[in-house]
Amino acid sequence: MLPSQVTLVDVGPRDGLQNEKLQVAAGVKVELVHRLQSAGLKEIEVTSFVSPKWVPQMADNTEVMAGITRRPGVRYSVLVPNMKGLEGALPTRPDEVVVFGAASEAFSQRNINCSIEESIERFRPVAAAAREAGLKVRGAISCALGCPYQGEVSLDDVERVVRLMKDIGVDHVGMADTIGVGTPRRVQAVMERALKHYPLVEVSGHFHDTYGQALANIYASLELGIHTFDASIAGLGGCPYAKGATGNVATEDVVFLLHGLGIATGIDLDALVDAGAFISDALGRPPVSRAGKALLAKRVG
Ligand code: HMG
Ligand code: MG
Repeated sequence: MLPSQVTLVDVGPRDGLQNEKLQVAAGVKVELVHRLQSAGLKEIEVTSFVSPKWVPQMADNTEVMAGITRRPGVRYSVLVPNMKGLEGALPTRPDEVVVFGAASEAFSQRNINCSIEESIERFRPVAAAAREAGLKVRGAISCALGCPYQGEVSLDDVERVVRLMKDIGVDHVGMADTIGVGTPRRVQAVMERALKHYPLVEVSGHFHDTYGQALANIYASLELGIHTFDASIAGLGGCPYAKGATGNVATEDVVFLLHGLGIATGIDLDALVDAGAFISDALGRPPVSRAGKALLAKRVG
């Protein structure tokens, strides 16, 4: 039995755009968020409060958050790596903050310039202060299926970070395949480790589609009852600290799969395809989404 309903978190405005070399105007990012919420997305990862020297594309975080006309029932999340990030984020009124750690030491160093243990000590006060402010805290665990620097990552290493996240009061863990190397059985093994510490509703999948495995990995996660997934509109993105990694699985493709399985998402696929076309046009390239391209071609034909 697969879940009857799935929640998708569109991470396109953040994960999708953070790697873009040319600055995308804040107005375009705001319009993208508006189009996503009009298409029925109930969770949107809008931006990150990280060092603008490390990720210049996200330097307009406050402006983007201020520009959004909020819809009741939609949750807006932002990434924060430390207290400075949280202090920047709080006045912009996110519903949720995301701390992001890694199951691999090498990636932790490259991405956030500290060891896994140091990262957890940085997240501890962030999680406490965010909860104090009434916000939900999500923890992203990068390299849960493999690392661009060290290669294999053991299940024990993944579970260790899940446990550490739990210890510091993180409400939800997102198991991230940063470089898209995971395959279904391994994904299930990783999810099972997370499910030892968190309930089904508080575990999600975040699959980059570098090796074309993301939809299979989502299906494998559905088989376990996991019903929350990150996806990126038009398949945008990649991590600046994971060379060669492509974007997240395209939201359009995931919605096509889920609706085909009879699973409700609350998302209007046509409006979603329009949102994908909008941001792809703004970036001057065709959408990566296979479903998006097919549905656009069908309209013309
Ligand atoms: P650091 O250099 O070790 O930090 O960077 P620091 O505390 O020593 O501070 C150095 C400077 O940065 C200081 O400024 C701080 O004020 C400033 P200076 O005195 O030199 O002018 N600073 C900040 N500025 C703004 N906001 C902040 C902040 N913190 C310090 N929050 C740090 C550590 C974490 C800040 C840095 O490494 C960083 O920003 N990294 C960015 C990492 C990132 O955004 N990666 C992409 C997102 S994660 C991802 O994509 C993976 C995910 O999708 C899951 C998956 O697919 O795996 C989530
Ligand atoms: Mg990512």
